[in-house]
Amino acid sequence: MAFDLNSYLSERRNLVEAELLSLSQQPALVHGTTGLCPKSLGESIRYSLLAGGKRLRPILALAGCEAMGHKPEVALRFGCAVEMIHTYSLIHDDLPAMDNDDFRRGRPTNHKVYGEAMAILAGDALLTDAFALAIQSPAPPEVLIEIVRELSFSAGSPGMVGGQVIDVEATGKPIDLAQLKVLHAMKTGALFDVSLRGGARLGGASPEQLALIRIYAQALGLAFQIVDDVLDVTQDLAQLGKDPGSDREAGKTTYVDLLGVEGAMSQARQVMAEGIAALAPFGQAAEPLRALGQYTVERKN
Ligand code: IPE
Ligand code: IPE
Ligand code: MG
Ligand code: MG
Ligand code: MG
Repeated sequence: MAFDLNSYLSERRNLVEAELLSLSQQPALVHGTTGLCPKSLGESIRYSLLAGGKRLRPILALAGCEAMGHKPEVALRFGCAVEMIHTYSLIHDDLPAMDNDDFRRGRPTNHKVYGEAMAILAGDALLTDAFALAIQSPAPPEVLIEIVRELSFSAGSPGMVGGQVIDVEATGKPIDLAQLKVLHAMKTGALFDVSLRGGARLGGASPEQLALIRIYAQALGLAFQIVDDVLDVTQDLAQLGKDPGSDREAGKTTYVDLLGVEGAMSQARQVMAEGIAALAPFGQAAEPLRALGQYTVERKN
């Protein structure tokens, strides 16, 4: 029987939503071990964290774990930790000093509601608290050290933050395809990579299996960001839940500038097909990952 991606996505999304909701109600996990998180900070965090979103990164962590033949629940806390880091990156990305956007996940951006200082601090808290959550994954200490080490690299200077810096510095300056690929790999690919590898590691992956997962993850991250650039010019606010066109207005080079909409989409399809090919040794267990790859290039938001 053909794999039913819609049921898979809605079941896994339900797991993620339930976990995020329960975490955000437990002060010791999301709000620090003292439980003394100020009410206003908790509100600002929950506003963005519980605003929906595709939850793709935690779902990738679950699917990475399942590709190793393990139950998805093993990677749930880790996946939610990545989602917290992703949510912080969006709150900061939308700030006036960065992309200066007014809408995110179908609602006004965090700083529009809570002010810039609280938005910065909510992001800081989500990033920091994510590590406390990641180490509560059900795994031996040596596995926890590895997943947290990779989480730090992927989120930090050689990963997402470094990519955001290159993005900011490239504003108003033309860059070529090779530079854009590096930018996308860092700002977007790194968190996909760590979601998948962390999930796979929690599912008991061998070094050889982790290397194959990385090939798929890098393709997925690049294809995802190419499609993000395309959707930015082909969709509207209602469809996207965030302001369209803002990167181009700000003078940033995108895949669409360099290749056009059709060229960018065919590049995304080709990159994704190569990534999916790396999953061959995992057989049926990697069916969710293959379908998620297809979804990434076909999605409309
Ligand atoms: C948006 O990520 C930021 C990018 C890396 C392009 P998503 O498109 O996954 O956003 P949500 O989580 O669904 O809101
Ligand atoms: C941001 O990329 C990726 C992050 C690391 C937050 P974009 O600036 O293109 O993301 P959107 O389009 O605002 O979601
Ligand atoms: Mg940006
Ligand atoms: Mg942005
Ligand atoms: Mg974008």
